Amino acid sequence: MEEQEAQQKDMASKAHADVHADEEDAAREGESYKLRIFRGDAEGGREVEYEIPAVEGMVVLDAILYIQAHQAGDLAVRWNCKAAHCGSCSAEINGKPKLLCKARVEEYGGQDIRVHPMRAFPVIKDLVSDVSWNYEVARSTIPFTTDEQAPFEMYEEDVERLYEPKKCIECFMCQDVCHVLRTHQKHEEFAGPRFFVRNQWLEMHPKDTERRVEYLKEGRGGIGYCNITKCCTEVCPAGIHITDNSIIPLKERVADEYYDPAKWLMRKIRGRRSPKTGQIIGRNGNRNGG
Ligand code: SF4
Ligand code: SF4
Ligand code: FES
Repeated sequence: MEEQEAQQKDMASKAHADVHADEEDAAREGESYKLRIFRGDAEGGREVEYEIPAVEGMVVLDAILYIQAHQAGDLAVRWNCKAAHCGSCSAEINGKPKLLCKARVEEYGGQDIRVHPMRAFPVIKDLVSDVSWNYEVARSTIPFTTDEQAPFEMYEEDVERLYEPKKCIECFMCQDVCHVLRTHQKHEEFAGPRFFVRNQWLEMHPKDTERRVEYLKEGRGGIGYCNITKCCTEVCPAGIHITDNSIIPLKERVADEYYDPAKWLMRKIRGRRSPKTGQIIGRNGNRNGG
């Protein structure tokens, strides 16, 4: 056990050393930062205060790794790239979702920095939340379906439109900030902004032959719960215009399909068929008609 703890401490120290090879030069003599970090698990917990030496340019993840290396070897935090690419280090700083590896300590201008796990998901330990619900939603998404063999030939403008939604790093901060999940806990009925981005990419893809309006309106998508507050767009570290470029076009597609009286009547009479398989697709976008 002692050996394991020593190993953990060593790993944390190395991680910190790697990201701060020049830490000694950048340290600000006599200055310190205070962080209040949630320590606990699914059963409950509390904020614990830590004070660390100030280092020029330090991000909050550096501060947490310093604490892990020097003051609390069992502090749990999830991270991987430390370059805002992998989406692993999402947490909340002073109540707002942030990538810990992107948020500079200096941004907080000397005020206390309170770091908590994402609130829309169950906590596992300390700053690590269980985001596996998102992967269940991903599995419910109607996948890319085509009759053609890759590589595809596509117009350049079509390819360009597909870039933005593909920038998603799956940090799930948009999911965390969305009141439908965060406050109203509609996890069973609402896919959330990250998956509206995914669905819009699929719907825009010129080679995809599926349609997802039933999934979005009546099934797991639950897009009707979204009231376009734009909070998701504001927190996206990839700069994806989630509401303007994904949610609004999907809502328009749903409105065209459901509130056009002629289309509504035809759907009631015949149900809907998958353009690829010819199978009847049920009210939940389920291929078995469920
Ligand atoms: S715009 Fe919609 S999906 Fe985005 S945070 Fe607001 S309610 Fe949630
Ligand atoms: S859409 Fe943006 S905020 Fe949402 S998961 Fe992807 S990168 Fe994160
Ligand atoms: S560690 Fe990869 S995004 Fe922060």
